[in-house]
Amino acid sequence: MKILVIGGGGREHALVWKIAQSPLVSKIYCAPGNPGMAALAENLPIAVDQLDKLLAFAYENKIDLTVVGPEQPLSLGIVDLFESHGLKVFGPSQKAAFIEGSKAFSKDLMQKYNVPTAAYGVFTDQGEAEAFINRTGAPIVVKADGLAAGKGVIIARTCEEAISAVRDMLSGNAFGSAGSRVVIEEFLTGEEASFLVITDGKNVIPLASAQDHKAVFDGDQGPNTGGMGAYSPAPVVTPAIHEKTMEQVIRPTVAGMAAEGRPYRGILYAGLMVKDGEVKTLEVNARFGDPECQPLLMRMKSDIVPVLLAVANGDMSKEVIEWHDKAAVCVVMASEGYPGDYRKGDEIQGLEQAAELDDVYVFHAGTTAKADKCVTNGGRVLGVTALGSTVKEAIDEAYRGVACITWPGVQFRRDIGRKALDRI
Ligand code: AMP
Ligand code: GLY
Repeated sequence: MKILVIGGGGREHALVWKIAQSPLVSKIYCAPGNPGMAALAENLPIAVDQLDKLLAFAYENKIDLTVVGPEQPLSLGIVDLFESHGLKVFGPSQKAAFIEGSKAFSKDLMQKYNVPTAAYGVFTDQGEAEAFINRTGAPIVVKADGLAAGKGVIIARTCEEAISAVRDMLSGNAFGSAGSRVVIEEFLTGEEASFLVITDGKNVIPLASAQDHKAVFDGDQGPNTGGMGAYSPAPVVTPAIHEKTMEQVIRPTVAGMAAEGRPYRGILYAGLMVKDGEVKTLEVNARFGDPECQPLLMRMKSDIVPVLLAVANGDMSKEVIEWHDKAAVCVVMASEGYPGDYRKGDEIQGLEQAAELDDVYVFHAGTTAKADKCVTNGGRVLGVTALGSTVKEAIDEAYRGVACITWPGVQFRRDIGRKALDRI
C-alpha cells in the first residue's frame, strides 16, 4: 500500500514511524513532512492547506490511504474532498471536525447531550460578555470560538483581564475571525488528562491513557503552549475514571454527533479535568494530540494500518488494538522564546548520539535541513521519546536522550512525568 500522511510536526513523524513498521506498506509520502521523516518517507513540498494540490498528488499517485494529522485541513474539508474523488482517507468530515473548529458548537453539543463540562456562555457582544464575567467572577476562562493554533484560550486571573481578552478577540485584533465569537467559562481545577479514542461512528476503541504538560515551565508555571511533553499510561485515569469517561463523555459525544447529522469517524480526543473521582470535559479535538501521539504510538503493539483503513472504510468492528506493557515519555525540546516569538535557524547538535540510545526515538517537529545540517525552524523543535518498563525508567531514558542534544537557547521542562510518579 501507498500511504500519504498530511502534516509536518512531531505527531506526523510519529505516525510515519508507526506506519513504516507495517508489512502492508510499501511507500509513505508526507506533506510537507520534516527532515526527521525523510529516512522513512518521501517529503512533498505541499502545505497542509493546499487541498487541491494534495488531492492531485493522491489521485495521480494512486494513494491507497491518506492519514490527516492536523486540524486545519480537516476543518477545510479535506476528507470530504478526497472521498468525493473515491480516495480513502482517515479523519473526520468537515461537518464532524466542527467539534474542534467551533468551541461554541462543542459546548452546545455537550450541554445538549449531558456531557459534563464547565458552565459557560457564548457571546458576540462586548457588553453582554462583560455582564457575564462580572456576574461569574474571576478566575474565568475566555476562549476564541474558532481555530487559533492552540493559543485561543486565556485563563484570566481578574475580571479586568477577562474583559480585555474579550475585547481583543471580538475586535478581531487577536485571532482574526476565529475570535469574532467567544466562549466564556467557569475556571476548573483538578488534574488534566488526554483521553483519545478511535471510532468509525459506531464502534469505539479507547487508546491508552495519556497526559500532556501544557504550561511552558516546570511546575505548570507560565503561559500555555501546544504541549511541552506527554506520557502514557497516565495513572490519573484510573479504571473508574476510564469507565466514567467512556459512559459520560465519549459515548454520548459519538452518539450525539451521529444524531446531529455529523457522524464522527477518526480520532476523537477529549481533554479532561479530573477531580475527586469526577470528570469534566475541557475541550474536544478532532485529531491525535501532539505530543500525546508520540508516546501513544510508541506503546502501540498492533499494526496501526489495518485500524486506520477499517475506519476509513467505515467499519472497525473487527479491529483490536494491543499495547505494550511499557510506559512511554516524550520530552519536548523547544526554541528560546516559545510560546512567544522564538529564535530559528540554530544548528541542532547531538542528534547522532541520541540516535544510538536503545529505546529512545527523537521525533522531529520544528526542524529543517540547511546545507546538510539540521536546524531549528519552529517553537517546538523535537520530541525526545523513550520506552521504559516503568514511568520512572521511561523518564530517565527520555532525559538521557535530551542530555545528548543542544542548541543555543534550547528550553525544555525538567519535570515531565513527575505527576505520574507522585501518584504511584
Ligand atoms: P482548550 O484548548 O479548551 O483545552 O484549552 C487549553 C488549556 O487551557 C487546557 O488544556 C487547560 O489547561 C486550560 N483550560 C481550558 N479550559 C479551562 C477551564 N474551564 N478551566 C481551567 N483551565 C482550562
Ligand atoms: N497537546 C494538546 C493538543 O494536541 O491539543
